[in-house]
Amino acid sequence: MHSVETFRSLQNDATEWRRYLHQNPELDYRLHKTAGFVAEKLASFGINRIEPGIAETGIVALIEGAGGKGPTIGLRADMDALPILEASNKPWSSKTPGNMHGCGHDGHTAMLLGAAKYLADTRNFKGCVALIFQPAEEGALGGQRMLQEGIMDRFEISQVFGMHNMPGMELGKFGICDGPIMAALDEFDLVVKGRGGHAAKPHETVDPVVIAAQIIVGLQTLVSRNTNPLDALVISITKFNAAQGYHIIPDHVELAGTVRTFQPNLRDFAEQHILAAARGIARGFGADVEFKYRRHDPVTFNHTEGTNLAIKAASNLVGTASVDDKMRPRMGSEDFAYMLEARPGAFIFLGNGPTAGLHHPAYDFNDEALPYGIGYWVTLAETVLAN
Ligand code: NI
Repeated sequence: MHSVETFRSLQNDATEWRRYLHQNPELDYRLHKTAGFVAEKLASFGINRIEPGIAETGIVALIEGAGGKGPTIGLRADMDALPILEASNKPWSSKTPGNMHGCGHDGHTAMLLGAAKYLADTRNFKGCVALIFQPAEEGALGGQRMLQEGIMDRFEISQVFGMHNMPGMELGKFGICDGPIMAALDEFDLVVKGRGGHAAKPHETVDPVVIAAQIIVGLQTLVSRNTNPLDALVISITKFNAAQGYHIIPDHVELAGTVRTFQPNLRDFAEQHILAAARGIARGFGADVEFKYRRHDPVTFNHTEGTNLAIKAASNLVGTASVDDKMRPRMGSEDFAYMLEARPGAFIFLGNGPTAGLHHPAYDFNDEALPYGIGYWVTLAETVLAN
């Protein structure tokens, strides 16, 4: 088995790729430059089965092992950036103001490329590795769309694995747990419909601003008073759009927010009770509400066998003391969840060191993490597809 030192020789190349990607961030499905770069690198490694254009700009590439027949496993990296104005002050900062790689998908892409190079050179496994480069992880369901375009059946993928960097987790460490590891994500829009008028004559209006404020406070009691404290539920209101002036009471207020859960019954609960509570409060004050609730990513659920393989691979690389195999699940979400619904496997976190947090303008993927991520992918492939 390898130590991380084996992969240091790839660090210079991977750093160069990562910084190129960082300087050239692209959003959602519009990853033409990024996908072109990835496909060109894969071809230069001597990989001859490269299928671009899946879910618009996604790519699947296959590397056959030298060990003969065996199953195919999928290793997935996301490639898309975020609409954030970068403030990292790094020399390789985004060349497109307003777009940045604020979630480290540049690093994820570079690590899978590094692993591709190593695996294509060595091919010390049986069966096949399918490299999945996905677009539109950030809220636009690129992973789901790759599934709808049939990648699992087309490439006969029997298990699938994902990885994400984690700021605040020490460099060289991994974190994972069996079962749910990331939450389900839902979104809702809530319009409070009152009656507008002059701010100096509030008694002639039904003020939706004051009513919306009551609703926001009221919804927090769904978490604190109506659900079991041992069950995780997050309800966050993130938008509040009211009038644009100092002296106007608006006709309506637009609220929006997100719900995070691990249990299907709490998703149902949130959908029903946000409406019931908001409507009850609004009607009590003579207003009413309109409500739309949308279910996005499901829970990212690690399967036991895949989790054990991931723990084994990470432990072989960095030692058991550097693998937290009982990490607490996170309330964030991942559209890799859809791939884990389609095939068994596991999702793991990789330490990014003490950097700014994900989606923060000062965030930057830590290039020192590259050999760990590359080493994990290679070790995992050689573990699952051992000759
Ligand atoms: Ni991300």
